[in-house]
Parts: sequence; C-alpha cells; structure tokens
Amino acid sequence: MRAALCREYGAPDVVRVEDVAPPQLGDGQVRIRVRAAAVNYPDVLLVANEYQVKVPTPFVPGSEFAGLVAEVADGVTEPAVGDRVSGTGLVGAFTEELVVPAEGVRRIPDAVDDRSAAAFGVSHRTAYNVLRSVARVRAGEELLVLGAAGGVGLATVQLGALLGASVTAVASSQGKLEVASSYGARNLVNHRAGDLRPALREILPQGGDAVVDPVGGSLSEPALRTLRWGGRFVTVGYASGVVPRIPLNLVLLKGVHVLGFEFGAFAAYAADELDRNEQELLGLLADRRVRPHIGATFGLDDAAAALRYVADGKAVGKVVVDVA
Ligand SMILES: NC(=O)c1ccc[n+]([C@@H]2O[C@H](COP(=O)([O-])OP(=O)(O)OC[C@H]3O[C@@H](n4cnc5c(N)ncnc54)[C@H](OP(=O)(O)O)[C@@H]3O)[C@@H](O)[C@H]2O)c1
Repeated sequence: MRAALCREYGAPDVVRVEDVAPPQLGDGQVRIRVRAAAVNYPDVLLVANEYQVKVPTPFVPGSEFAGLVAEVADGVTEPAVGDRVSGTGLVGAFTEELVVPAEGVRRIPDAVDDRSAAAFGVSHRTAYNVLRSVARVRAGEELLVLGAAGGVGLATVQLGALLGASVTAVASSQGKLEVASSYGARNLVNHRAGDLRPALREILPQGGDAVVDPVGGSLSEPALRTLRWGGRFVTVGYASGVVPRIPLNLVLLKGVHVLGFEFGAFAAYAADELDRNEQELLGLLADRRVRPHIGATFGLDDAAAALRYVADGKAVGKVVVDVA
C-alpha cells in the first residue's frame, strides 16, 4: 500500500509517498481503507516539528479521514466490515490503509459524501464547540471571525450564522471574503486594505459581542478592542505564526472575557458538553444544514503540495487529499 511519509522534519516538501507494509491489526482495532483525508494547519506544524506535541519520525501526517471498514479485530461488533466511517487523530491519515481503535471512528450519515465527511472532523467540531460552549454565541449577537475563509474560520462563519449571529468576516482578500459571504457573513473586512481597528469601528459602532480568533498575530488586539463591555474573545490558534500579547489593561477597562479553546483539554474537562455538541452538529450535517467548503483537492501523490497549499495560507475552507 502507499502512504505519505515524513522521515525528517521540515517544510511540507519533506513529505514523500512510498510503498509501505500495511499496518497490523491489533486488539479492539479496525482497518480502514481510506477514501479521503483532509489537511489541517497543525499537520504542517507537526511536519515542521513546531507543534505543541512532538511526533517522532518517521510518521504518516494527516489528522482526519473517511473510508470503508475493511477488517475488524475479533470481538469488535461496531463498526462492521463495509461501513463508511470517519475519524480524527494526531497523525496517520494520508495513506491508503490505517488501523485505529473501533471506538475512534463514527459512521458517516448516508447523505454525506466521503470528502465532506473527511473535511468535517476538525474544523467544524472546533468551531461548533467554540461557539456553543466557550463564546456561547446567541441569536442576534455580533460575532467577529478572523481568518474567516480558513478551515476553522469558515466553519465558524457558517455555524455562527446558523446560530443566528450577525457575522463579520475578516480575511486577506476579496475572493476569500466572497466565500465567507456565501456562507452567511453579513459584514466583510479585508485586513490588507487598511488598518483593521477603524474599519471594524465603522462597521460595528456599538462594538461586537464575541471574537473567534484562529490567526493571532497583529489582528488579535484590534479585534479585541472592537468588543463591547462584557464581550468574549476566544483564542483558538496562531496560523500567523505569532502568539499575540494583549495588554491586560484593555481587559480591565473593557470588562471583556478572554477565553481559550483546545480540543483535547475541552474533551477531558467538558465531556458532557462535547457529547451534546457532537450530537447537535451531526444532526446539522445529516440534515445538510452544514457542509464543509472544499476549496482544493489533491491526490495522495501530491500530499506535500496539499500541505504546502495550507502552509502558504492559500486554503479556502478545507483542502482534501483524495485517496480513492
Ligand atoms: N484549539 C484547537 O483545538 C484547534 C483546532 C483546530 C485548529 N486550530 C488552530 O487554528 C488555526 C487555524 O487552523 P485552520 O485549519 O483554520 O488553518 P487554515 O485553514 O490554514 O486558516 C488559517 C488562516 O489564517 C490566516 N493566516 C494568517 N497568516 C497566515 C500564515 N502565515 N500562514 C497561514 N495562514 C495564515 C489565513 O487567513 P487570511 O489569509 O484571511 O489572513 C488563513 O486562512 C491553526 O493555528 C490551528 O493549529 C486549533
């Protein structure tokens, strides 16, 4: 079978597709014939050895997949051979076959195709948990989304609009903003067109209720300054490569709440909320009320190019590796 391998840390181009032996099936595991995988920004960081978690080389990058169950270990009753399933993990998805714990996969609703199922696992789940449980966004509120055409950002735009918020999208080009608009953003701000702070003040003279920030860097502070008294600022990631420093007097003066979201910690400390959010989100997916936007698709042989595309900030919505 073929798999994309990272044998040494570095830029995305270090990832090469090779023929490798299929992985052995262990107790409680299932073998998945992968049909589609999707790229997330942390995949780039893991290959560069710049993520908060280090994975020893060699490893197969890729953090979300969809495929068919090809084999199950003795005693595994769910899922069954032939089921369509999806799953997420730290690494391992850019391959023709992988083995994972049976409880680590979920069935794909019939109405959802493989690419969409693969592209849904990280961004939409992150966005929904952030909106529902951390920012606690309610209908009628003003929601500001940075990186609004990226994986997490566009999912946040889509789900925020679905929850009834008025969404202001911030992105670096007109093309990206038009996509955000097509998923429900009401106000569009190109942060390359001028200073962000006056642009936001003009659009939101009364201030915003919540900010979701997967970008960091120089955009975070002007976005936080846009919040009204009691607003919520949620830091989700640092795709800009810069962890911002916010003067605490801003928090004091504006009475805002600065919050964070990290999937692993949230799953460990808020398991009940995670379960509730998961059920709600799967319902929205199965009913076709949400759908990941797939902006680019690459073959498995071009896994490095798919990672490069995301590393360069070109991704609009999700980038998929079509393994089938
Ligand atoms: N906390 C969690 O549990 C969690 C879960 C998932 C992801 N994340 C994090 O969230 C962040 C975004 O992930 P994503 O999958 O949405 O990434 P993405 O699809 O690549 O989007 C990131 C956005 O950041 C902006 N950006 C600014 N400077 C950039 C640069 N130097 N390189 C790339 N993008 C840059 C781009 O928007 P513009 O061009 O419009 O400025 C881009 O659309 C990452 O840091 C990731 O690690 C965290």
